[in-house]
Amino acid sequence: MTTVETRTDTVVGEGVDRVDAPLKVTGAAHYPNDFNYPGMVHAALVGSTIAAGRIRSIDASDAQSAPGVLTVITHLTAPQLERGPMTLLGPSPPAPMQDDRILHYGQHIAIVVADSPEQARHAASLVRVEYEPAEALLEIEDPRAEILENPWGLDTERGDVSAGFAAADAVVDERYTTPDNTNNPLGLFTTIASWHGDSVTIHDSTQWPHNVRTSIAQIFQIPESGVRVLAPFVGGGFGAGLRVWSHTILTALAAREVKHPVKLVLTRPQMFTSVGHRPNSVQQIKIGATRSGDLVALEHHSISSVAMEDDDYEPVAFGSAVSYTCPNVLTRDRQARLNIPCPGSMRAPAEGQGSFALESAIDEVAHAIGMDPLEFRLRNYAENHPVLGLPWSSKALRECYTLGADRFGWSRRNPEIGSMRDGRWIIGYGMAGVTYPYYQVPCQARASLRRDGSAYVTSAATDIGTGTYTVMTQLAAELLGLDLGRVRFDLGDSDMPYAPQAGGSGLTGALANAVHVACGNLVQEFLDIVRDDEDSPLRGATPETVTASDGRLHRTDAPDQGEAYTDILARHGLEELSADGRSVPPDAQKIGMATAGAFGAKFVEVRLDPQLGLLRVARVVSAIDGGRILNEKTAASQINGGTVGGISQAMFEATATDAGTGRIANATFGDYLMPVNADIPDMEVIFCGTPDRATKVGTKGVGEVGLVGIAAAIGNAVYHATGRRLRSLPFTIDQLF
Ligand code: MOS
Repeated sequence: MTTVETRTDTVVGEGVDRVDAPLKVTGAAHYPNDFNYPGMVHAALVGSTIAAGRIRSIDASDAQSAPGVLTVITHLTAPQLERGPMTLLGPSPPAPMQDDRILHYGQHIAIVVADSPEQARHAASLVRVEYEPAEALLEIEDPRAEILENPWGLDTERGDVSAGFAAADAVVDERYTTPDNTNNPLGLFTTIASWHGDSVTIHDSTQWPHNVRTSIAQIFQIPESGVRVLAPFVGGGFGAGLRVWSHTILTALAAREVKHPVKLVLTRPQMFTSVGHRPNSVQQIKIGATRSGDLVALEHHSISSVAMEDDDYEPVAFGSAVSYTCPNVLTRDRQARLNIPCPGSMRAPAEGQGSFALESAIDEVAHAIGMDPLEFRLRNYAENHPVLGLPWSSKALRECYTLGADRFGWSRRNPEIGSMRDGRWIIGYGMAGVTYPYYQVPCQARASLRRDGSAYVTSAATDIGTGTYTVMTQLAAELLGLDLGRVRFDLGDSDMPYAPQAGGSGLTGALANAVHVACGNLVQEFLDIVRDDEDSPLRGATPETVTASDGRLHRTDAPDQGEAYTDILARHGLEELSADGRSVPPDAQKIGMATAGAFGAKFVEVRLDPQLGLLRVARVVSAIDGGRILNEKTAASQINGGTVGGISQAMFEATATDAGTGRIANATFGDYLMPVNADIPDMEVIFCGTPDRATKVGTKGVGEVGLVGIAAAIGNAVYHATGRRLRSLPFTIDQLF
């Protein structure tokens, strides 16, 4: 059961149903592996069974002569490939199969193409490999691992932390650890590549079609205009689709060689080693506070793991620099290079690990001084951005705290440990605050109005289940004054105007502002047409003085002075008018405001049965400031999905790497624990706040703020129930009692 409450004094979009829902439930929505081409053949991958060393020999002769096999490509036969480009998220992963070196378990060392998927998979099992193993670095604290210092230049320091700790009445200094997690979108990642001469069409499970286009063009040294990438539907991403991984490149390579369209569907175990994962972390966090509840010093050190010869943007500690007002703060992010599959962003991403440590440690220090943890957070509330010193473009975290606490019934919490009971259950209340970072990059869109009165709006974005189709349809309908049913929004084709990745909670904002500009320019086009039109009641009007509604433009101060789009088009003999729009993220210094991401307050009730060793999450209230909410239904779904991800992070998920071989030991849905419906409690979502001032549309993105803070809130609730601090995710039974 989910309930959503919306404050009535805010600007909120209607909770309309997903426009693509009928397509999805009838099977008419085509996901990457639903596409088929005449003459299409199938690929399978061979993965390394060691984590470090060299391939001494690779014998593909049996595979090559197996039934239906067209080709087997290994590093011995693969052409030289360029590495993909620098992207908004950092460098591309290394090009695959360029030499005999093995850098991680599951590394793709051969691709087999055959008439059927079964034949390809069977032949892949016949490829014989002899290795020359080397000792693999697999442990994040292995002293031999290379440590990357300050890899993104995001280390921060303000004030004097030692002086701050000296002035503190209470100091907590604790180590927190988080495991590897695997993204695990439901849809197995699929690539279909089909060449025609020097051009290629690619269906791909991607969150960023333009990145696939740019990367494939660079890797194969062909013009970008020769690459078309299609992803109208993607079966989830959780960050796995942000990068162009080796299976996509190898499928394109295989298709070029066999001169047939080639389809590759990763197996579930391959999803654990081929498309990124949340890297594990070891964090040391030290917080000092005065008896009166002032945060006086905060130090947060993090190490994350990263693959050999790769990069991953994972600033775990950075969030601690911007979450609270505190005069003395030091944050340090480090990475340890290991023989592991390439990590990548996963659900949140780095804030998922960082906030677990920060919000648990905040709770610890509040308890140490005997202050209510909510009161402690309010007392150290950052009115201005703590690093930039600028006012936030919007921040309703205070309302999130107070309204969330109200709804949850935080005042009923008896602060005494283990004091709240219900029969055999011990009850714990815990909470956490979230300051999610701002991420936005340029985006483009095109809007057209047609003679039949319908609008068509496009951008090469993706909808990874988040509701992009729906909210952009709503927005365009509102901006152009049309009924929802008259607007079609299309995405997922790299031939459409440029869109950034569906990631970092940034797409809705970037795209909404691009659609806003495109629709504004389209209205301008109509006004330009009638500027000197004696027959038009809109003659000489400017966009600022007209309103769009009911399929027409009219003068705002005189609603009867206007006309329908269709009348203007007809009178001027036009089939349609189109306009482009581009959004550029605001510059904090120029607007004199710190551009804000979403904020949130999470309240959790847990119940523990010490006799049966059970931990249950009983209730979650999430109060969220996401700026302007475009669709309260899809936005609440985002928060609920994130909450489930947070419960999963807290209590279930851990990718297990075998110490000897680097093999992922639980790489199936049977072995990798995730919550089922029975693990998920009632979730309530409250949206707080007002449209953000930094952009025209005022949305802030709610894709990731739902997950962040849940693990800490659960851990804090367990402490309230049992007096045991849980500092290592996931919270396994042995830690509870
Ligand atoms: Mo998200 S982890 O930026 O897809």
